[in-house]
Amino acid sequence: MRLPFPEAPVPHGTRTLMYGFKYYTPTKVVFGKGAESKVAELIREFGGKKVLIHYGGGSVVRSGLLKRVTDRLDEAGIPYITLGGAVPNPRLGLVYQGIELCKRENVDFLLAVGGGSAIDSAKAIGYGVANEGDVWDFYDYKRTAAGCLPLGVILTIAATGSEMSDSSVITKEEGLVKRGYSSDHGRARFAIMDPELTMTLPDYQTACGCADILMHTMERYFTSGGNMEITDALAEGLLRTVMANAEILVKDPKNYDARAEVMWAGSLSHNGLTGCGSDGGDWMTHKLEHELGGLYDVAHGAGLTAVWGSWARYVYKDCLPRFKRFALNVVGVEPAGTDEEIALKGIEGMEAFFRRINMPTNLRELGVKASEEDLKTMAHKCAVGVDGAKGSAKLLREEDMLAIYKASV
Ligand code: NZQ
Ligand code: ZN
Repeated sequence: MRLPFPEAPVPHGTRTLMYGFKYYTPTKVVFGKGAESKVAELIREFGGKKVLIHYGGGSVVRSGLLKRVTDRLDEAGIPYITLGGAVPNPRLGLVYQGIELCKRENVDFLLAVGGGSAIDSAKAIGYGVANEGDVWDFYDYKRTAAGCLPLGVILTIAATGSEMSDSSVITKEEGLVKRGYSSDHGRARFAIMDPELTMTLPDYQTACGCADILMHTMERYFTSGGNMEITDALAEGLLRTVMANAEILVKDPKNYDARAEVMWAGSLSHNGLTGCGSDGGDWMTHKLEHELGGLYDVAHGAGLTAVWGSWARYVYKDCLPRFKRFALNVVGVEPAGTDEEIALKGIEGMEAFFRRINMPTNLRELGVKASEEDLKTMAHKCAVGVDGAKGSAKLLREEDMLAIYKASV
């Protein structure tokens, strides 16, 4: 497959201001076939004496991974308890259960085995154990955490980057409020990544993961704030690599090399690397999706692609140089026509890519029939969640959010 590399660097002419940044990636990564066999020694290395193994709805039981992990801990004489049940869009109720369990059993180390949902739920449990009071306060932006139980991860789906990110996203059952909390305290001490573990994924989840990985870099890329050439080059290379390998995985899901490329890209896409020097990024596609995930319980990656095109068309004129650059360097659009025409071709090309990997490009394809009232509710909750307005490509308020939801029906 031809990667759409430009013939020569495309001058972007968008340098506004290079921002200072903090780059903190304390997670020890152990990557490759069979990496999970190192789990006991890694827990020892980071001081774990009593472990809570936290996982999702059972894929790790069915694949035999959980058994392999507990066998290793048994051999090493490391005591553990288990708590499964983290669902996609993980719930606060299970987090409360996990906190109680850890306190009762004197757990001092968390091991998340699974995807972003198990990892995020484990992070929330860790905040709840290490801090007094209601853990939801952190997700409700009422206070910040002073610590978190140490966490290790065995990743089974390349998607959220939670294995190296500072964030955790939890849904509160009451009012279906989905919120993220970010803190360096929650970053994993180690992340075990064996691409083979992702081969049992349903094709839909593989594609959702690829979409999410792309979005984590695109959210950072589409800014009207500062940027750095090195960051843009890393970002564009990451996006091209994930797109090429996502298409390989549609036809050949057992392709180890493609799985490995995507898995490592997933971590790099959300550990801060592709945002260094910018104003922090846009993040409105994520905010719009979080409302969809909260209300309709859709898969995160699919929710993102369902609103991205409508978001992009709504904002591209306010961020034209970046959309043009994206079209030329990532999507491989020919440099002919006006800047607006090139930018629009880039948006269309990206949507065509989403369709090629069987991801939705609107709410109908996502399987969501939203009433006018639902769209208003989501726009309102989204605006409240961002304290009124958010976005760097273009600053969006409640009425803008509603317009984007309406355009994505
Ligand atoms: O629950 P199990 O049975 O394990 O099944 C899962 C789930 O049904 C399944 N799965 C995972 N690995 C598998 C597998 N099935 C077969 N074989 C495997 N190897 O896949 C489904 C999805 O898993 P989940 O953990 O929900 O997916 P993902 O990693 O995409 O996590 C999504 C959650 O993370 C949040 C999302 O909003 C959503 O709640 N995010 C977290 C972020 C972070 N912490 O940094 C950033 C993201 O932007 C995102 O918001
Ligand atoms: Zn995401």
